[in-house]
Amino acid sequence: MELNDLQIYHNGKFVRYGDAKIGLLTHGLNYGTGCFEGIRGYWNESQEQLYIFRLADHFDRLRRSASLLRVSLEETAAQLSAHTVQLVRANKFRKDVYIRPIVFKSAEEIGVRLHGVDHDLSIVALPHKPYIDSSKGLSATVSSWRRIDDNSAPARAKLTGIYVGSALAKSDAVKSGFDEAILLTAEGHVAEGSAENIFIVRDGMVITPPVTDNILEGITRLTIMELVASELGLKVAERSIDRTELYQADEVFFTGTAVGVSPVVQIDHRAIGDGNVGKVSAALVHLYDEIVSGRLSQYGRWLTPCYPVARNSSLKSSKAAAQ
Ligand SMILES: Cc1ncc(COP(=O)(O)O)c(C=O)c1O
Repeated sequence: MELNDLQIYHNGKFVRYGDAKIGLLTHGLNYGTGCFEGIRGYWNESQEQLYIFRLADHFDRLRRSASLLRVSLEETAAQLSAHTVQLVRANKFRKDVYIRPIVFKSAEEIGVRLHGVDHDLSIVALPHKPYIDSSKGLSATVSSWRRIDDNSAPARAKLTGIYVGSALAKSDAVKSGFDEAILLTAEGHVAEGSAENIFIVRDGMVITPPVTDNILEGITRLTIMELVASELGLKVAERSIDRTELYQADEVFFTGTAVGVSPVVQIDHRAIGDGNVGKVSAALVHLYDEIVSGRLSQYGRWLTPCYPVARNSSLKSSKAAAQ
């Protein structure tokens, strides 16, 4: 499908991607005054169903990010979820999809500020392209770029302008032969990957940096924290992580919408554990995959089915999806 022919949601209407234009002076383009989400939908062939993972939670985070830009969204998470389901249906997607809602200051005028500048809201859904192959584990490096501090720009929100830091770190890592970058806070604690949260496993304990260490408050992170406790019966701690704890961890893995659960087997040329994907990471990769594809009915509460649900299916359509 040509990008221009995709149906997208733009300011209350369904239009062709090619017809939704923005001008060169758009505030969000010039000053990074926007916020967005990355959401995934998973096609289940045997159920002929497309499940979107934690859709309303993503729109709740979009609302919170927008409020930091002094934007109050007119539509509720349920309404935005319903538009997203409609969009998937309008494009007749029967494959994995990536969904990108974006809110940005749309006025075409010069002047850095947040107040008194109009905004647009768009949602684009397109076929998903694999982000990174982590089946054998990833290599990573501790970046010389530091994660933005919450007192410089809101680190916990998914703001467009903040991503320049991620882009710098990611490209430097890849150009140096690594798959991914790990960013530290200004104080030198581990924050996260360029577009992922991070966990380590030490002596049977699963540890992830707290939300006060300038991380993006990841939805996959929350999901995994819950699963580690409920399904694997392991303890989870949110606490600051030192750089050398990374090197000495038994296991390290990233979590995020794009990467799911991605084990890291080497950091700065040091093997993590025995240099292979560890047991906890492997169990979580499998569990997450089962859940997002709709194969574990007890986690149906996290999934929004996009197409009519077969009567005998235990995964019921959400209110929003039914509209
Ligand atoms: C900087 C950053 N950290 C963490 C994450 C993981 O967040 P989530 O699990 O909500 O996708 C993402 C991806 O959205 C990200 O861009």
